[in-house]
Amino acid sequence: MIPDDIFLKIVRSAVKAPSAHNTQPWLFKKKDDGFCIIPDFSRSLPVADPEQRELFISLGCAAETAMIAAGFYGYRTVLNINAFSTDFSIKISLQKDDTVEHPELFSYINVRQTTRNHYADKPILSEDIAALKNVGDGITIRFFIGQNEIQQFSPFVAEANAIQMSNPKFKKELIQWVCFSEKEAMQKGDGLYTACSGMPAMGRMFGSFAFKNFVTVRSENKRLISQLENTAAVAIFTTPGNELEHWVKTGMVFQRFALTATKLGLNHSYINSPCQIPQVRDRMMNDLGLDGFPQLLIRLGYSQKMPFSFRRRINDVILKVS
Ligand SMILES: Cc1cc2nc3c(=O)[nH]c(=O)nc-3n(C[C@H](O)[C@H](O)[C@H](O)COP(=O)(O)O)c2cc1C
Repeated sequence: MIPDDIFLKIVRSAVKAPSAHNTQPWLFKKKDDGFCIIPDFSRSLPVADPEQRELFISLGCAAETAMIAAGFYGYRTVLNINAFSTDFSIKISLQKDDTVEHPELFSYINVRQTTRNHYADKPILSEDIAALKNVGDGITIRFFIGQNEIQQFSPFVAEANAIQMSNPKFKKELIQWVCFSEKEAMQKGDGLYTACSGMPAMGRMFGSFAFKNFVTVRSENKRLISQLENTAAVAIFTTPGNELEHWVKTGMVFQRFALTATKLGLNHSYINSPCQIPQVRDRMMNDLGLDGFPQLLIRLGYSQKMPFSFRRRINDVILKVS
């Protein structure tokens, strides 16, 4: 049995992982020889993520973070994905081993963030691109560097954004997950805190009204295209298939990528909408000659950090052992 304090420390790190809309769709359950990460489907996004693809990517991010933390506390880890039964879970078995090297990426778990501002017009060193590509491990990470290459994504981003933002159900779901003030974000401990996207604090009533009426296809398009114009590189993560295991694996690789980028002083954010709409995704695969399913579209570059997002209390994500 792993000690309770070690389990709590690992969970405390794991919940720092990114998740779509900051839903934090995970629950942790201690086991005799480790712990399980279980999806919390009550936190899924039926409109934005009907296949729950991004939910499972988020679980992969949490699993990778948990394993890095376990390594830091001197445990060897074995991962087992139980994807074949209706009770999906990611089992992480732990074995104490004093020879385990402290993973360097552990120090970056608390400082990684999704940074949604403009990035400097400063190229990324080729050795840093190589280091980021290196975390791939079965997932292809292809880079598009410089504005000529990056602008190839603009039509796909614009089209996917138009489909999403003109769907009232998409907007309604999004607004449900937005926290319009620091107080609301701290109290809820989840969701998209407006300050993380550079938006001013507003009350929920005014904020919902402003979102409904002023955040439009046009305004979002302008924001996303301007983000693309102020980006040093874009990385696209593709997988050979589009099944649950590919999604979890994408999350694991992506979290290593995000922590490595943080270590290199690089910020990142998502321009994912073309991966979220199947018809746009398929065209992007064809037109850009991608050799797999696009799972994540990530921008990279140098900028100031933004405010950090919040997390739920640890007690709320731990399932009691019955
Ligand atoms: C699978 C996945 C998809 C995401 N998609 C988007 C996105 O389309 N746009 C965006 O701004 N952020 C996106 N995010 C980032 C989350 O909103 C972010 O991780 C969450 O708000 C927590 O913030 P943090 O990453 O700064 O800790 C995504 C994250 C994950 C894991």
